[in-house]
Amino acid sequence: MAVHSRRSYRAITVLSITFLIYQSLLANAVTYNVVNLGAKPDGKTDSTKSFLSAWASACASETPATIYVPPGTYLIGEAYFNGEHCSSTNKGITFRIDGKLVAPSDYWEIGNAGSWIKFERVSRVSIYGGVFDAKGSSLWACKASSSNNCPSGATTLAFYNSNNIVLNGVTSINSQMFHISIDGCQNVDLQGTKVSASGTSPNTDGIHIQLSSGVTVLNSRIATGDDCISIGPGSSNLWIENVACGPGHGISIGSLGWEKQEPGVQNVTVKTVTFTGTENGARIKTWGRPTNAFVNRVLFQHLVMVNVQNPIIIDQNYCPHNSNCPNQNSGVKISEVTYQDIHGTSATIVAVKFSCSKKNPCSEIKLEEVNLSYMDQQAKASCVNAQGTTSGLIEPTSCF
Ligand SMILES: *[C@@H]1O[C@H](CO)[C@@H](O)[C@H](O)[C@H]1NC(C)=O
Ligand SMILES: *[C@@H]1O[C@H](CO)[C@@H](O)[C@H](O)[C@H]1NC(C)=O
Repeated sequence: MAVHSRRSYRAITVLSITFLIYQSLLANAVTYNVVNLGAKPDGKTDSTKSFLSAWASACASETPATIYVPPGTYLIGEAYFNGEHCSSTNKGITFRIDGKLVAPSDYWEIGNAGSWIKFERVSRVSIYGGVFDAKGSSLWACKASSSNNCPSGATTLAFYNSNNIVLNGVTSINSQMFHISIDGCQNVDLQGTKVSASGTSPNTDGIHIQLSSGVTVLNSRIATGDDCISIGPGSSNLWIENVACGPGHGISIGSLGWEKQEPGVQNVTVKTVTFTGTENGARIKTWGRPTNAFVNRVLFQHLVMVNVQNPIIIDQNYCPHNSNCPNQNSGVKISEVTYQDIHGTSATIVAVKFSCSKKNPCSEIKLEEVNLSYMDQQAKASCVNAQGTTSGLIEPTSCF
């Protein structure tokens, strides 16, 4: 009993100290409510300036700062949050968003801006909650008509050259182009992300990652018209877990190898993902061009395919319209790719396709416990320039 009470006493002491620290942090912390700074939750008054002025204050703050967005709908134009001139003793900036941000209904207003909401050179920025509605459908319609007069479209939420970023419970709907882009960043933690756009919307990748390291994507639901998650050159130490994809094009490493000098992709884990009605499941795609790029140490684990056109695919001959691919051999070296516990249904008879480079055959591909069927028939596997091994049940029969 004596031991017990001493323990409880210690626990209480630790709790009170924690509480005191928490209180003193709160005492120093500052909150900027965008409504107090002039933002109007009416969905029609342009509130961009109020958000930017909240950012300027938070950025100058030497204590932890919160930008609070109360419930309501806020019309936001192109918004650029630059961290370059934040206080050197900045302790981090947290957005707490209970409201919805909407883009102007005229797509030209942000359509050539590159990004709608852009963060650049920021550190320790967190976003909790929030719905970002870019109202992209009129731009998709423009692109679908044969009109040449459409802007390329903006990424909804972009982070460039930033580190220690948290996105928790963020929802992006109907982006003009990519929904979320992580480019040139370190330590990015995305949890509970929801992406929703039409299955026919063009270039509306859910989460795009490139030139970044230490990116985690957890517990997310992505329904869109292009890749669920796309992984570009120079990505390493990525962890993607518990994601539902579909509709869309699935999870794609690539397109890689467009540039002659290009950083590789390594150490990527994709686990516990369900693909429903997607074009691809686990895809690696490279241009048929010379390059020093590579893909190494990728693990696809516990994937469920529901009527997926290409459940497992490596395509090293990507060359749309047969242009700009002067040499049909991809220079990208693909090695150590493991597919473990992948099961479900293929929407085409070829459920496993390794179409590798003649110049750089895929090596050390591993298939373990793969069971994919096609309309209650035996599906097929196809290999070109692919070397690998199998273990456990493999259906369709391996082609190594
Ligand atoms: C691979 O990436 C994970 C994060 O996804 C990281 O924890 C691990 O340390 C990395 N491994 C190496 C060898 O860098
Ligand atoms: C493979 O999957 C099919 C269809 O889902 C199923 O009927 C079959 O029992 C599975 N085979 C094994 C060995 O698990």
